[in-house]
Amino acid sequence: MNMSQTSSYLDLSPLYGDTQDDQDQIRTFKDGKLKPDCFSEQRMLGFPPGCGVLLIMFNRFHNYVVEQLAMINENGRFSKPSDKLPKEMAEKAWIKYDNDLFQTGRLITCGLYINITLGDYLRTIVNLNRSNTTWTLDPRVDMDKLFGKDGTPRGVGNQVSAEFNLVYRWHSATSKRDEEWTENMYKHMFGKPASEVPMHELLAGLGKWNASLDKDPHKRPFSGLQRDSEGRYSDDELVKILSDSIEDCAGQLPSNRFIYITLTSTGSFGANNVPKALRAVEILGMMQARKWGLATLNEFRKFFGLKPHETFESVNSDPVVADHLRHLYDHPDYIEMYRTSHHSKLLKHSLIILQRVWLPRKLRCQWFLVLELRQHSLSQGPFCPMR
Ligand code: HEM
Repeated sequence: MNMSQTSSYLDLSPLYGDTQDDQDQIRTFKDGKLKPDCFSEQRMLGFPPGCGVLLIMFNRFHNYVVEQLAMINENGRFSKPSDKLPKEMAEKAWIKYDNDLFQTGRLITCGLYINITLGDYLRTIVNLNRSNTTWTLDPRVDMDKLFGKDGTPRGVGNQVSAEFNLVYRWHSATSKRDEEWTENMYKHMFGKPASEVPMHELLAGLGKWNASLDKDPHKRPFSGLQRDSEGRYSDDELVKILSDSIEDCAGQLPSNRFIYITLTSTGSFGANNVPKALRAVEILGMMQARKWGLATLNEFRKFFGLKPHETFESVNSDPVVADHLRHLYDHPDYIEMYRTSHHSKLLKHSLIILQRVWLPRKLRCQWFLVLELRQHSLSQGPFCPMR
């Protein structure tokens, strides 16, 4: 089991790491700074480079923030240790100086990340940007006494439901460009197209690749870019990757998609639209869902007050897809919840589910717990070490 030693949610652990060891690897231990232009999470190198550039931007923001904090030195909070201190005391004071700046910079950077995630991303995926409201879910504000007479407990960790893990696998929304990138990565790694890589070869290959990466994030290669003498990448190259990725729309072009149920390819979300390159990833998801013994699609819908499907055609109006479902499952009640993310009504249904999970005042704790997303539980204060 992977257990994050940080606050466990919205904590930018892909940048800072989720163990003390990871965090130590990305820090310079000087002036609160991170090593330039890198990030802790090595699995992120297996995603299209736009994701990594976002993390590099947060890295740069952190380093900018700690520079400003030190320069402003509000109320003498970040005063440099006196050079008159005896050696041993001076060493300790410099460690404290670095740590104070680092932890404060980390909190401020996480705050920016949280605001972007809740204010921009979350509002977009639950379609609030098209509604006349500024409301968004902000787990840092006080909630009612849903979890007990003392309100929501703090600092006890959070759990994301297994069902949510599955519903959120939006692999079918991968863009054509990102699909090609992933295909090329597989070809480079295995010498053949992704769809021809059997599961055991994939798992062994990924394990080998993971082990081959340097422990030091700054020494890992990133998207073929070269570092300058200060260890930074060229601004222009980073901007190009970022702006190209932003311009690139999710799953717009019908392409060489993994033929899931039928042979057609119909747009972004949908039954037939998972990139072939992610075939093995999808199979892993199905195996995981069965291992977890998840609810069926209809059970899941009932839980959220949605009408259960009575026919296969109501699951997917494409008769070919509906027919394939019929052959696979016999009755709509037997359809695995996993399929939710693949039938053509994903936007209508999955987003309703997301809205019902996230938006109601009474959060359903069985499905999506956000216990630790509160301002005070992200940290005990500006100086607390990573938990
Ligand atoms: C090229 C793009 C992508 C690649 C290469 C990729 C790859 C992967 C891989 C290798 C896994 C682990 C599979 C397993 O062990 O069960 C995974 C899981 C997952 N993916 Fe993707 N993915 C991509 C895009 C996306 C997108 C766009 C989303 C959602 C917006 C997404 C959401 C998820 C989720 C929620 C999981 C489960 C995570 C977990 O169990 O911790 N993925 N993906």
